[in-house]
Amino acid sequence: MLTMDDIVRDGHPVLRKVAEEVQLPPSQEDKAILESLIEYVKNSQDPDIAQLHGLRPGIGLAAPQINVSKRMIAVHVNDEKDNLLSYALFNPKIISHSVERSYLAAGEGCLSVDESIPGFVPRYARITVKGVDLEGKEVKLRLKGLPAIVFQHEIDHLNGIMFYDHINKQDPYAEVPNAAPVER
Ligand code: NI
Repeated sequence: MLTMDDIVRDGHPVLRKVAEEVQLPPSQEDKAILESLIEYVKNSQDPDIAQLHGLRPGIGLAAPQINVSKRMIAVHVNDEKDNLLSYALFNPKIISHSVERSYLAAGEGCLSVDESIPGFVPRYARITVKGVDLEGKEVKLRLKGLPAIVFQHEIDHLNGIMFYDHINKQDPYAEVPNAAPVER
């Protein structure tokens, strides 16, 4: 299982690389990597396991964060109706998005960033994501609210983008045009 020792931190060059597409159907090795990502996120949300292994809780993780520059992400999060969205995807891609934006009222954090970085991170309010799951099945997801934000954060990791890149440097809490806040 993955622990915080496996997670690379801000400043590591892999976090700034554009990750490679995963060859499909996925190899056993790539499947095992993606399984380890979703397992970390689930474990990190289990208070006993998290405490035992010193896991910082997370709701998403991308392969570059464990020093694998390939397009794989895991997301395990509840939406506003308390439905669990749990996805491990190869080659996730945003195929469409709203004009309207959103942002997390409390700002974003990242397992690869040890300090908290204040400010609003502008995101699309709604996105449609396509990808391939662990069974090799193509999935298409329409997302809004917190899940939409998490997917955008994780897909950014595949493109070498960190959440704080989006924060207004002059005024981190400047009003985001055409956006509604998301509480979590
Ligand atoms: Ni992150």
